[in-house]
Amino acid sequence: MKSLLIAAAALLATAVPGLAQDYPTKPITLIVPFAAGGPTDVVARIVGEHMSRTLGQQIVVENVAGAGGTTGTTRTAQAAPDGYTIMMGHMGTHGAAPALYPNLKYDPTKDFEPIGMAAGTPILIVARKDLPPKDLKEFVAYAKQQNDKLNEAHAGIGSVSHSTCVMLNVQLGIKPTAVPYKGTGPALNDLVAGQVDFMCDQIVNLVEQIKAGSIKAYAVATPDRSPALPDVPTTKEAGLPEYQVSAWNALFAPKATPDSITAKLNAALVKALTDENTKKRLLDLGGVLPDEKGRTREALKTFVASEVARWTPVLKSAGVTAQ
Ligand code: MLT
Repeated sequence: MKSLLIAAAALLATAVPGLAQDYPTKPITLIVPFAAGGPTDVVARIVGEHMSRTLGQQIVVENVAGAGGTTGTTRTAQAAPDGYTIMMGHMGTHGAAPALYPNLKYDPTKDFEPIGMAAGTPILIVARKDLPPKDLKEFVAYAKQQNDKLNEAHAGIGSVSHSTCVMLNVQLGIKPTAVPYKGTGPALNDLVAGQVDFMCDQIVNLVEQIKAGSIKAYAVATPDRSPALPDVPTTKEAGLPEYQVSAWNALFAPKATPDSITAKLNAALVKALTDENTKKRLLDLGGVLPDEKGRTREALKTFVASEVARWTPVLKSAGVTAQ
């Protein structure tokens, strides 16, 4: 029976052109579940550009924003498993969202074939440049005093910016007024324009604006400072050691995408991450590149399960849900 099934699979692979060994024979759609110009989009475009050269086909980024990234992620989960629709997921879509959406139409651990980790992205607490507090200690006092008068920008319930600020707000005992956007790209524009007060965001979205002085950075929530922003203190140095959080971006294909296709995509991703120019672009933005072990499909599968397990109790105990 088993040998019959293997023979049938082999026949199918040769009978359907463009399936396994010829792949890819046409452009690949890379879904970014947030607005253009934000961290997910930036990482997707940097790695996608190099991967398309390796694969000999265009990788076309499609921004499918909405519902904290879950709209584009659902679209990917329901796409044909042929390697022509893949997505850039992240800590929100594949870690936090299941705890917040009771009716989520996908399971991050079951409905995708992991392709590989693209970059780790430390979280920073940032504010409009003229917000009165000059450092994190002052911000904490100010936030407690202002509470709901303070506006917090985020990219929708379950997004990285939302979940990581839920963690911060619980720790500080504050309830700022949330202002949702279709991504932290547009949210950052409003932060620069002074329309909102603060946000918790991924470093790759922020380095240029912090260096230019158009927003202020209170701290990076990782044990060590980022080499991309050596002047920004860690939360530990700045007086809030318990606030430790980092995010990540990784590629996924719909469940049942053939193994040979995800292997090819993984190899192209790994090649991109070892290319000097691509590496430099990610590192200059503060991205943390996965080591050799962390670049495999298996590592991502295990990591996603651990992220869901990590975020579920944190968010459930915060009592936040999306209706
Ligand atoms: C998030 O908060 O999840 C991200 O910043 C989304 C984005 O890429 O805009």
